[in-house]
This record gives sequence, structure tokens and C-alpha cells, in this order.
Amino acid sequence: MSLQIKSFEEYQDAYKKSVEQPEEFWAGIAENFFWKRKWHTVLNWNFKEPNIKWFEGAKLNITENCLDRHIYQNGDKPAIIWEPNDPSEAHRVLSYKQLLHKVEQFANVLKNNNVKKGDRICIYLPMVPELVIATLACARIGAIHSVIFGGFSAQSIADRINDAKCKLVITSDGSFRGSKTIELKSIVDDALMQCQSVDRVIVLTRTRTAISMLKGRDVWWEDEIKKVETQGNPACPAEEMDAEDTLFILYTSGSTGKPKGVVHTTAGYMVYAGYTFSNVFQYQPDEVYFCTADIGWITGHSYIVYGPLSQGATSLMFEGVPTYPDAGRMWDIVAKHKVNILYTAPTAIRSLMAFGDEYVDNKDLSSIRKLGSVGEPINEEAWHWFNDKIGKGKAPIADTWWQTENGGILIAPMAGISPTIPGYAMSPLPGVQPALMDENGKEIEGNDVSGNLCIKFPWPGMLRTTYGDHERCRQTYFATYEDMYFTGDGCYRSPEGYYRITGRVDDVLNVSGHRIGTAEVENAINMHSDVVESAIVGYPHPVKGQGIYAYVIANHHHDDINQTRQDILQTVTRLIGAIAKPDIIQFVTDLPKTRSGKIMRRILRKIAEGETSSLGDTSTLLDPTVVEAIIEGSKEFK
Ligand code: WTA
Repeated sequence: MSLQIKSFEEYQDAYKKSVEQPEEFWAGIAENFFWKRKWHTVLNWNFKEPNIKWFEGAKLNITENCLDRHIYQNGDKPAIIWEPNDPSEAHRVLSYKQLLHKVEQFANVLKNNNVKKGDRICIYLPMVPELVIATLACARIGAIHSVIFGGFSAQSIADRINDAKCKLVITSDGSFRGSKTIELKSIVDDALMQCQSVDRVIVLTRTRTAISMLKGRDVWWEDEIKKVETQGNPACPAEEMDAEDTLFILYTSGSTGKPKGVVHTTAGYMVYAGYTFSNVFQYQPDEVYFCTADIGWITGHSYIVYGPLSQGATSLMFEGVPTYPDAGRMWDIVAKHKVNILYTAPTAIRSLMAFGDEYVDNKDLSSIRKLGSVGEPINEEAWHWFNDKIGKGKAPIADTWWQTENGGILIAPMAGISPTIPGYAMSPLPGVQPALMDENGKEIEGNDVSGNLCIKFPWPGMLRTTYGDHERCRQTYFATYEDMYFTGDGCYRSPEGYYRITGRVDDVLNVSGHRIGTAEVENAINMHSDVVESAIVGYPHPVKGQGIYAYVIANHHHDDINQTRQDILQTVTRLIGAIAKPDIIQFVTDLPKTRSGKIMRRILRKIAEGETSSLGDTSTLLDPTVVEAIIEGSKEFK
């Protein structure tokens, strides 16, 4: 069975087969990959424990699928095009042959540094080709990578390293982002003061910022490569992995406590990332594909690295930010590299829209054929701007809905094949069986209905566990509804049966497409010595999608409450990272609580949204006058 669907009829057939005979269906898709040994069982599962196994008995290495198998026919095809932060610096192109060579070299560096199969490796790098190389080098030798987004603080890095007991960190001296230089190594140094498990740090040269290098612990990437070169044999055979061996851990925020390490395994993830990449974007062999995500997030893992490379695609990665040196940068990149497929986020679209059309009107976007959106619901205005200004009304937009836990896209149109409606993720991909659930745990059948979005049946790319805490995985995703994976999203199914994601129904915020847990931010704010208590809610933000609104009870030490405000922001930046900084901090003397002491977030959300006339039932509040005081105080921010 060929991997790529070519028409709507083929989609319907594939979908039908994937539901009626899921094992035959996925076995047919898996035939399109390279296996050292085939599976004996396609699927073994239950959602109770949960226990999910795909392609059991199979042996493979994902890097052979992403690199080696393309070498014979497409060795010179660009695998990675890298566009630097500064447009005056030369861009880089790595062919499949060159990328394989560099991955093998660096895999040997890892081996020289005592990395073994199953070891956890933390990667904290800027968006440079070495990030792809490091990631694939881990996979080459069966080490488990845990990539951390460059915007996270030392404390967040330490928490993640300690949770996974990483033994080695790969970082760089610094990172260029727009006009700023960020001192990555120094942040890692701070983190490592709390980490016992790390005995080696490999440091790539990027910014030439002055950094400390600790004897016995820190080594330079370039020196280590030289050592491998003088050792002679540059090749590094791919480790034979079991289908269900862990490929990577990626931390993501939930509604409670600390971020959890989502675990993805080898075979199912590979098949799903490759299948969905090929189909959603309808990738053709000559196309240049540009995903603007950071590899520190799941979108970068699946749709810059593993999905595109497994399909032999040319994947463009960008080091910088869309507004540097000006708001036309993305369009300059499209014109310069003749990008055919652009996959980006609504927050980026809205921010560029706000700069005005003069940054896009004179750009040559004639190469664009297909567009994609991911990370949050796309509002109609942004959809139309993307469609009209970037796609010139000719490029289909795939609004792709999925999550870190899913490994790949679950609901989306296939570009050029499926119908599209602004704001709709449209229909499930083959293999995905969505269900809308009501408050009582019953499935809502029929159309023109809304409910909590669940998935009824396993798909190959789904998470297997949360690292070191399987019970947390069960509780979070499989305990709310019996025999269902619960997404945490609300969803509407239209009269025609199309899906529209309406946003999170739990205490998870989506700020500029970044997932942020309210509890996490509250914990950080509460660490400030003057803070007594706090409550966080999201509110509509014109560019970020959601902004963070903090209600804080504090004892001010400064006459100037703005000073306390700044101190709180600094505390959050230290503990999590600048991405979690509240947009608004309103100081309050009390929070609306029920008699049992639970904060009524519903009310706080309404106030943050400015909808104070529709607060709903407040009779269960311990002290209803609290609400009036908060409403009064909120006027300052309107
Ligand atoms: C939201 C990102 C509406 C959703 C791949 C989900 C979306 C969360 C869309 C996962 C979309 C992602 N339309 N909402 N097209 N894509 N979301 O784990 O709330 O960073 O649960 O994965 O983003 O975010 P995550």
C-alpha cells in the first residue's frame, strides 16, 4: 500500500480501512519504511493501564529511515537548509549524504564520551543544524534525547535533567535571537549546580560569548569532532532498536504540578510522523518545506526532523525570529529559498499582520503552494490574511490539530485534497477515531454538537507513558473517560461532521502557541517572598491568542507596587522562563473561594475577559463581596 493518499476518494477508502481493519491498514503503511526485522504483532493495547505497543518484534533504527535509505538515490538532495538569524551570514545546506556523515561523526563523539543505549541526553541548543545532528546522533546509538526549548530557565532545565537523570548535556556558548544574544552555556552552568547525574557537557561554538569551561566536565564540540576524525573510521553503524524502545522524552505542561516527560517510542512514532507529514502536506519530491517551529517543541521534532527526513524531504530550519531584522523576514526566506510549503502558527501570523501589509506586499511569494497552521485555534481574520496575502488564494491551508502526546497530526485537511473552512481542523486522518464526550462520560453522537474531545482507538504515534510516572499518564489521559484517550480540548462537530477545536477545557493555557500550566505559573509566583497567594487565568490576547492574567495577594515591601510587580515577573522568569511571564498582574486582597476553599476560576476568568455582567452563580462563594473588589481593581487594566 502506498503511503501517500492522492485524492479525496482515496482518503475515504483509507479512513474506512483504518477503522475496520486497523492492523492491516498500519501494517500496509509500515511496509513503506526500512526494517532490520519485521514485526510479529501490529498492535497490542488497552487504555486501562494503559499499555500500548505497536509493531512488536520489529527491529529498526529511525536514522536509517531518515538518512541511510535516501543516500542511494538522493544522496545529494538537500536534507536541511539552514537560514541564520542574521541575513548577512551565509545560509547552510546539508545534503542527505553530508547530514548522515555528520550524524555518524557526532554519534561517535557521544560514544567517546561514554554514552550508551538507553542513556538520557539533554539537548539545549539554538536552532542550528547541529541541533538536528545531535538529535539524530542520539537516535543513531539508541540514546534517548530530551530536547529543551532555548527559552526555558536554568531551574526548568534542572528539573527536566533531574527527572530523566540525564548524564550528558549538549549546548552552545550562546544563541542569537533577533538582536539579542542569549547565554545558553551560562544558563546550563546554573542548572547543573542542582544536577548530580550530569558528568559531561559538550559545547558547540556559535556566538563566541565568553563562557566558563570546567575541566573534566566541559568539552568543545569541535575538539571532540577532531578526535573522531583522527580515530580514522568515521562510520557509526545504527544501533538495532526494538519497536517499543524509547526514542525521546519531551516535557510538556499539564494542569497540575511540574511538566511531565512525554515518552515516544521508535517504530510507531516514526511511521506516524512520516505518514502524516507526507499526507497532510502532500509533499512532492522537489519541494522545499519550511516549518517555523522550534525543535524544542513537538512540532519541530515531528515536522522539522523526523517526519520530513523520513520522507526524504528538504526541510528548512530558521535560527531567528520572524521580526528580525524586520517583519518581512519570513517572506524574504520564502523568496530566497523558493519555499513551497510553509507550516507556521497563528500567533506568528497575527503578529506579522499587525506590522502591516507593506512588509509582505512587495515580496515574491510565487513559490508557495501549500500552507499549514498549528498550535492553537486560528481566528478567521488571521486565516483570511494567511490565505489572501501569503497563499494568494491559491494555496490550501491545513489547520492541523494535535498535541505533544500525539506524536503527529490527528485532525487536519490534506492540502489540496480535502475541503477547508476557516477555523476548522476538518476531519480526522486515517487511523484517528475521535469522540465527543459529555460531562457524564457519555459519547455525544450525531452532528452539530459540542463536547470534550477524546480518541477511542490507539494510533501509532501516541505517547506510551510519562517518564518515571506511569500512573500520572493514566490519571491525566486515560482516567477521565473509560477506554478513551482524553485530549483536554473542547470541540464542536458541525452539521457536515467537520471538527472545530474550541480550546482547552482544563487549566492549561496556550500563550503564543506555547502550552503553559496555570498551576506551574502560580507555584512560581508563590515562590516570591512577598506573595501570599495567587491565581492565574487566561484571557483573549490579540497577538498571543491567550494572555496570562495573574491575581496576586502580596505584602508589599516597596511603596511602589510596580517594583513588586517587576520582582514577581523576574521570579517567574527565573523559575520557568520569560514565556511564562504574566501579561497582567492585578494585586487583590482576597480571592473568590468556595466554602471548601477552592478558588472559583470561572469568575476570575470572566473578570479577566471583561465579562463582569455575566458572572453566573456566585452564591456558593464564602464571601461574595470579594468579587466586587476584584472587578473594581480590574478596571485599571481595561
Ligand atoms: C492546541 C502542539 C486548535 C490544543 C502541536 C492542544 C490547537 C494544544 C491546534 C497542544 C489547532 C494545537 N487548533 N488548537 N490546529 N493545534 N492546538 O502539546 O489546545 O504544544 O491541546 O502541541 O495546542 O499543544 P502542544
